[in-house]
Amino acid sequence: MNIDARIGIIGGNGWLGNAIAHALVSSGTLEASRLTLSGRSERRGTMDIPGAYWTRDNDELAARSDVVLLSVRPEDFSGVEIDASGKLVISVMASIRARTMAERLGSDAVVRSIPNAAAAIRRSFTPWFATPAVTAEGKKIVQALFDACGEGAETTSEADIDYCVAMTGTGAAFPALLAEALVAHAVKQGLTPEFARRAAKGVVAEASQLFAGDRADPAEIVREMINYRGATAAALQTTLDQGFNEAVAAGLEAAIARAAELSPEK
Ligand SMILES: NC(=O)c1ccc[n+]([C@@H]2O[C@H](COP(=O)([O-])OP(=O)(O)OC[C@H]3O[C@@H](n4cnc5c(N)ncnc54)[C@H](OP(=O)(O)O)[C@@H]3O)[C@@H](O)[C@H]2O)c1
Repeated sequence: MNIDARIGIIGGNGWLGNAIAHALVSSGTLEASRLTLSGRSERRGTMDIPGAYWTRDNDELAARSDVVLLSVRPEDFSGVEIDASGKLVISVMASIRARTMAERLGSDAVVRSIPNAAAAIRRSFTPWFATPAVTAEGKKIVQALFDACGEGAETTSEADIDYCVAMTGTGAAFPALLAEALVAHAVKQGLTPEFARRAAKGVVAEASQLFAGDRADPAEIVREMINYRGATAAALQTTLDQGFNEAVAAGLEAAIARAAELSPEK
């Protein structure tokens, strides 16, 4: 779907704001002339967005926009002072609650979301939550915006967004960790580091495409491999017996605790 609304991204010069702006325009979802981007400094994002309007004045950004997307760090939210009444507010900030934003910005129509680093290549799975004041039309805009960055997915629970900071928000981090573990072992067995890296990427980034999209789900692949009783079954069963699931769960719990610790909302 093309978005007809005007969108302003506060923090459009930052890493994620720039990636979202670029995804919106490069996918053809939004005309650049409908996009306003702001930053505190003169610095612009690494990806060029020809035709977008730049300002350092967030009031001007709000005046030029029907939808205001907040892409500043949570600790910088207190520095954003705009009147967003009558506008749809979308936040990608971890940990700032919808109610806090509604109170501070004067709009009850608030969406919280957690994209991840893969937005830069338009492959981010982005969960989003909308307050009851967000209209059906507003939700269509949000879905189109995050589909432009990969795949948007609405959830009806705000708590899911806090959880997803630790899970989907980690983006490529867990796959990268698995790839590193594979490389470390392969190098110990005598493979050259360069060959081991190519091999691990082939497994983690390429072979995993077998369960990408709507194709077979990962649980089915694990079950099939274990039932086959071959070398892969031995690898999987031993890894599981060594506490793989428990290690992943502990990592997720640690991320949730750390996000709460970093949150300006106590
Ligand atoms: N990076 C990720 O993968 C990821 C994933 C999920 C969620 N998030 C969330 O996305 C948000 C942005 O993260 P990021 O990684 O893109 O951070 P970032 O690169 O530091 O970008 C934040 C930008 O906000 C700008 N900014 C700060 N205060 C501002 C203000 N009052 N008015 C206008 N611009 C302002 C800064 O501009 P100046 O440099 O000019 O000061 C900076 O470029 C964070 O809340 C984070 O929790 C990020």
